Amino acid sequence: MAKTAMAILGATGDLALRMLFPSLYFLELDGLLPEGMAIVGGSRTETDTAGFLAKVETSVRERSEGFFRDDCWKRLADRITYVSVDASQAPSFKALAAALAGAEEVVFYLSTSPSLYAATCAALTVHGLTGGKNRIVVEKPIGRDLKSSAAINDALGSAFSEDRIFRIDHYLGKEAVQNLLALRFANTLFEPLWNKVSIDHVQITVAESVGVGGRGPYYDEYGALRDMVQNHMLQLLCLIAMEPPASLEPESVRNEKVKVLRSLRPIEGRELDKRTVRGQYVRGVSDGESVPGYLEELGHNSETETFVALAAHIDNWRWAGVPFYLRTGKRLPSKASQIVIQFREVPHSIFEGSDLLANRLTIRLQPEEGISMTLMNKTPSLDRGGMNLKPLSLNLSLIDAFPGERRRRIAYERLLLEVIAHNTTLFVRRDEIEAAWAWVDGIEAGWERQGVSPAPYAAGTWGPSGAFALTERQGHTWYD
Ligand code: BG6
Repeated sequence: MAKTAMAILGATGDLALRMLFPSLYFLELDGLLPEGMAIVGGSRTETDTAGFLAKVETSVRERSEGFFRDDCWKRLADRITYVSVDASQAPSFKALAAALAGAEEVVFYLSTSPSLYAATCAALTVHGLTGGKNRIVVEKPIGRDLKSSAAINDALGSAFSEDRIFRIDHYLGKEAVQNLLALRFANTLFEPLWNKVSIDHVQITVAESVGVGGRGPYYDEYGALRDMVQNHMLQLLCLIAMEPPASLEPESVRNEKVKVLRSLRPIEGRELDKRTVRGQYVRGVSDGESVPGYLEELGHNSETETFVALAAHIDNWRWAGVPFYLRTGKRLPSKASQIVIQFREVPHSIFEGSDLLANRLTIRLQPEEGISMTLMNKTPSLDRGGMNLKPLSLNLSLIDAFPGERRRRIAYERLLLEVIAHNTTLFVRRDEIEAAWAWVDGIEAGWERQGVSPAPYAAGTWGPSGAFALTERQGHTWYD
């Protein structure tokens, strides 16, 4: 196996310390890191390897809780060296190049602000670090709109070919999200029903109970639509709506996802009012405690939304006329993400006097992964001619099904392994990102043109009243 090295730039930042190094620790613990793989941490901070390792150890200990083992930490620490690099000073990359000298292929993980991506690519090019199988990993936000995203993608593309660019959407690293592929394409049961004939509508909810906390300055520039819908929510929608790919090969899966994104009907004109809702939380009660509103946390006025609900339509044969409701926000009643597939009602009921509830498949993504299906059943009784019916649930808890899984994996563990293996299936291709931005840009532009301000909602509630009207208008209700 080629000798691989990983260079993490922005190595003293929050993402690297909270997610990347703990993930590498767990991969080391499971014996999954390639033998001899060197890890180089780089950032502007002036420190040496010992100083850097002290920082990394603290965060790995914190994150690994009962799983910290001295021998494993030592093995990981032995791989790590630190160099000072500054993306705005190309010559500072000389030390980085020297630290990577023995590697046959290098993964550059940019855990930095996207504003540094272009300068970093230029510096890597100057130092001859972009050739061969060397690859680059980047995090969202890849732009704030289509134009800025294209500029970042151009910079990445000028240094690395598309098959060597790994754009992370950490939702694709979650077990429960990958399980959507298994549920749809490893079972024959659903696929014949997975269309407008049998499905009435789909709901995708990604709710968070936290506020924006210390991330105010970043968040205020983006808002819920750009921060969550453009990436995580649309990726979930793609996995639910796409056609069966021919294989799990990267292009096979990504070709199908991009077709969904390109089939999203633009939301514009008078539709904007009916099909979109913006909200912003005000003071309220979360987890039994009084919590401040968004503007109080931010310390200044703002028109940024912390909640968004949309009724999306996919204009193709499979989904014509089926609403896909998307809802996400901060300071909602709980942290819960789920996808609900609401099937249609039976065409004709032979059970007089019993209300028949249409079948519903609920896929819980977090905090507890599980799948449930409501079915109508007969209640044991003699009344109504013996046919008294009741909806009951078939429940599959993915936690109980795998009691051997000692802990919940960090999504980055899987993603880092895929980067090392050079497999881009779980990463987002340029055309996907850009198709998603094109759709989101249309909504942003409409809000701006029509002066749509976010409606207030109390922290700890399910968003502004408009979010309920959005579904009720079409005879539907949200499932919490
Ligand atoms: C990030 C967003 O991409 O995803 C955050 O920037 C959000 O605002 C987070 O809190 C949610 O991720 P998860 O894995 O906790 O659902």
